[in-house]
This record gives sequence, structure tokens and C-alpha cells, in this order.
Amino acid sequence: MSIRNIKEYSIVKLEEADSTNAYALEHFDFFDDKTVIVAEKQTSGRGRYNRKWMSDDSSNLYITIVLKPKDGKNVPYANMTQYLSVILCRFLHSEFGINAQIKWPNDILVDGCKISGILAEASAKSNKIQGIGLGLGLNVNLKPETISLIDQKATSLFVLKNRNFDVDKIIEKILDMFFEGYEEFIKYGFKVIKDEYVSKCAFLGKEITIRENEKKIKYTALSVDEEGLLTVKDDNNDEVKIITGDVLC
Ligand code: BTN
Repeated sequence: MSIRNIKEYSIVKLEEADSTNAYALEHFDFFDDKTVIVAEKQTSGRGRYNRKWMSDDSSNLYITIVLKPKDGKNVPYANMTQYLSVILCRFLHSEFGINAQIKWPNDILVDGCKISGILAEASAKSNKIQGIGLGLGLNVNLKPETISLIDQKATSLFVLKNRNFDVDKIIEKILDMFFEGYEEFIKYGFKVIKDEYVSKCAFLGKEITIRENEKKIKYTALSVDEEGLLTVKDDNNDEVKIITGDVLC
């Protein structure tokens, strides 16, 4: 393990972790706010809804940002993954001219293929949130033969640009962009990013299927509200707010 701290965040670098999110939560009390766990590989990378996140390729990016804001009241924890998804879109566009889209709430797609996933997990004591581990997986140098093993349409920077990338530089750039607007975001919440989020949001105005537990329900996606919730229309033309769920397309 090596620890580096030359910025407002510090980086803990591991050759291997079961999951950077699990590691962050297990050692949560030990880490300061804005500590970033970076692993070259994960043996049990996890995704949303207990899915696996393929993580045995060491040329990819697996990080978890430990966030434990001092004044824990009114922190927009629920929108933190959406904030990171906006930063990812900004990063992909400014660095590589890639126009990415967000599949609500926080998957990053390029031409309909997933390039990045985000998973926030809370650390709580006596029912009080101490903070979160904000996990990010980004397909950087993943080759087509590995991508073909993923159980959904996926892509990587390598596939899009036909070259390899320096993962450490990418991590540094993403973190710089993340922390640049972070204080403003935790002070004012989703409204700070709402317009940008909506402009990147895929499927608005389109038919979508949402999986909630084992149920799959068809809706028309209408808009994203002030809280970051997805507003949809059901078969009876009634508006419904989606708080959590997996958008299938
Ligand atoms: C998803 O799209 O389902 C979320 C995937 C999140 C993957 C990242 S990789 C780094 C961090 N550690 C984990 O075990 N998961 C997240």
C-alpha cells in the first residue's frame, strides 16, 4: 500500500482489493474525508443490485472516494452518484471529445454502450450516516475480447480511440474535476448540476423498462425533477416518480 497526499485529496493505492468500496467501508473510521482508494485489480468488484463488476483486468480504473463531510446535515448524499456522472461526462468530452450520455441515475454510456458504472455505499452508525464510499469503475484499456465477456453492451476508451491510456493520469484528472465543484455541490445540491445532468440524460421522451426487484414495468421517461428523481408516465398516463430502479433499454 502507498499513500500520496499532494492535493486536497489523498490517494491510497493497492495492488489488489476485494472491492475498493468494501475496503473503504471496512476501514472507514481510519480514513480522512477525501481519501481515494485505488486498486489495480479487484477480486470481488461489485455493481448495483449485487451484480458483479468485472475487475480482473489491471489496465482498468477502479476507485472509491471516501466522503465524510464535516457538517453531515443536508448533504446531498442521494445525488452524489449523479454529480460524479456529470463530472465523468465533462471529463470524457473535455479530454477526448467523447459525447457520453447518462442512463438514469448514473450509468455512463457512449453510443448506447456502458463505459462506466458508479456505486455509492453508506457507512452508518446508530442509523446516522457517517459518510459514503463513492465507487467508480471506468473501462479504460479494456480490449474487445474482454468486453465481449460482459453481460451487457459495453465499451472502453481503448475501443473508442484505438490506443492505450495512462490510468493514473486519468484518475488524477477525474479527481481534480470532481473536487473543483464538490464544495459548491454539497452546499447547494442537485440544482447546481440539474441542467447539465438533464442535457446528458439518455431516453427522455422515450419508452423505457424499469426493473424494480423482480418486476419489469414499461413507462415513458418524461423528465428529471429538482431532486434528481426520474418522472415517467405509466400506461394510464399517470405520472410516477422513480426513486430507485434499473433502467433497461
Ligand atoms: C454498476 O454500474 O453497477 C456500478 C459499478 C461500480 C464499480 C466500481 S469499481 C470500483 C468500486 N468498487 C466496487 O466494488 N465497485 C465500484
